[in-house]
Amino acid sequence: MNCCNRMFKAITVTCILALLVEVHTLDNGLALTPPMGWMAWERFRCNVDCENDPDNCISESLFTTMSDLLVSEGYADLGYKVVSLDDCWLANERDAEGKLQPDPLRFPSGLKALGDYIHAKGLLFGMYEDYGNYTCAGYPGILGHLEVDANTFAEWGVDYLKLDGCYADPVEMDIGYPEFGQYLNATKRSMVYSCSWPDYQRELGIIPDWESIIKTCNLWRNFDDIQDSWASVTSILDYYADNQDSIIPNAGPGHWNDPDMLIIGNFGLSYDQAKAQMALWAIMAAPLIMSNDLRNMDPKFKAILQNKEIIAVDQDVLGIQGRRLSKEHGIEIWTRPISPTEENFYSYAVAILSRRDDGMPYKVPITLSKYGMTYSLGYKVTDLYEGIVLGEFDPDAEFSVFVNPSGVVVLRCDLIF
Ligand code: GLA
Repeated sequence: MNCCNRMFKAITVTCILALLVEVHTLDNGLALTPPMGWMAWERFRCNVDCENDPDNCISESLFTTMSDLLVSEGYADLGYKVVSLDDCWLANERDAEGKLQPDPLRFPSGLKALGDYIHAKGLLFGMYEDYGNYTCAGYPGILGHLEVDANTFAEWGVDYLKLDGCYADPVEMDIGYPEFGQYLNATKRSMVYSCSWPDYQRELGIIPDWESIIKTCNLWRNFDDIQDSWASVTSILDYYADNQDSIIPNAGPGHWNDPDMLIIGNFGLSYDQAKAQMALWAIMAAPLIMSNDLRNMDPKFKAILQNKEIIAVDQDVLGIQGRRLSKEHGIEIWTRPISPTEENFYSYAVAILSRRDDGMPYKVPITLSKYGMTYSLGYKVTDLYEGIVLGEFDPDAEFSVFVNPSGVVVLRCDLIF
């Protein structure tokens, strides 16, 4: 290759890279796979009554305890690294210099110290704030203080910020969320930026500016808050499936749809329903942010959260979000293209989800070609919850699985080379 050719090639590669960075990622280089961790809200809410309920109130000891358990119970080694505050950590007023401050009784050591504690455990420090005048629970929001608050988070060692959208005008979020993102970037501290911007716009019937959201945020909420029930989980699944053509293309390395927290191990889901939430979140390439009480985890639920094979589907490097292919007789087929690939063929994760309630496991016949798997050498099929290889199947071969009521069977179908 002569020197002009070489230069031309170098310039072309640089331009292509610059274009990719410009179009597809924000400049923080974070969250190349969906974030994983623990967050207070769904399970511990806005319990500020430390006098009567010291073990469960929003306080520094709740977060140091959960940090300890993430490590000692083996969650951190599997990727659950972010320990995140949610609402109700703040004092009612800013300090004399106009900076945010935590409630002094519940966070007596301050948030820099909490961040240091979390980091010393090898974990990441997650923060919650709100773009508006107040957080959803009525504590000070960041509006009017964007620069000083971004700097405060950087000083405290924050690694992940969830920015909610109560008490704000959703139309103004198109300017406000990117503006705050620029202040975060200007601190030079790497912070994963989790936005609620599209959810608040959806509620008003505004079609979100996805191009700008993808460029600005590492993840974003699309839909309602999860609650502790199967009805809530299925309403979220239905929202994502019913809107999948517009939602799925926005996901990819560095930028994810967030269907909200994992509620596995709490009060509302049966064992089968918990398996289903974990599996479907993995199919959706969702962040795996638990909100549960790690002090009291039934080993069965812990095993679901720690299922390495399901986590591997969630964290697949291709970062392609899966979709619902069909819904018939209360049985839904969800598929997600995953690695390894060969030529234009993908391996797949398949979740066979039962929304039925008629008492006994339901037999579901399967032919891989009907799910878009047409690789002529076939697929090695593994049942990920059972941990058994079901066999090697040609695309047109038929086999069947049995799915429990409101349960799931998850298959990994690897291309055979
Ligand atoms: C909103 C968010 C929730 C939680 C609460 C806290 O509802 O969507 O995830 O952060 O606010 O008040």
